[in-house]
Amino acid sequence: MATYSVTEFVNDLRLITQSQKDDSAIIEKVIPLAKRLASQTDWSSDSFRSCDESQGFGITILNEDEDNALMVETICWLPGRGVAPHDHQTWGVVVGIDGEETNVNWKRHDDGKREGFADLTVEEEIIVGPAEACAFLPNDIHSVRNTGETPSLSLHVYGYSPGSRKRSEFDPLNKTYKPCPQRIRSRA
Ligand SMILES: [Fe+2]
Repeated sequence: MATYSVTEFVNDLRLITQSQKDDSAIIEKVIPLAKRLASQTDWSSDSFRSCDESQGFGITILNEDEDNALMVETICWLPGRGVAPHDHQTWGVVVGIDGEETNVNWKRHDDGKREGFADLTVEEEIIVGPAEACAFLPNDIHSVRNTGETPSLSLHVYGYSPGSRKRSEFDPLNKTYKPCPQRIRSRA
């Protein structure tokens, strides 16, 4: 099979998002293409697997358009590390490359009208392994943890760079939320 490059993938993302404005329909079209890109990783290098110890993971940006659109990146998670529940305020697709990431989807029960308050419970847990995908809509809330014994690597695609959106990070135990911290990212 011919190699599918990051450039071709981004061109396909542009075509999809120009012709389609519905997030669910975009996701449906992006998943098979993201799986194709994640299935052969000639575009990857060892540096994609370097992690920031304090953060617990390492992000490598493969594409971000001038208006922060079409963010494509890899994330390498250290074993046992992850992130607290958060939203993205844009659509997203994740496909596993190596290792095992547990993705927890949370259900929000309050109406969002009380500043700083959020009542969340676990809705489902999905283990994302190589070639497996999960996806989310702008207001979906998820958390991620590398539940394997080796660093994991996954491909992440977002309608817009998450860092450019006004996102929230949630604390389900204390039923609070705050602005999502900016992640440390490097460019490929
Ligand atoms: Fe996320």
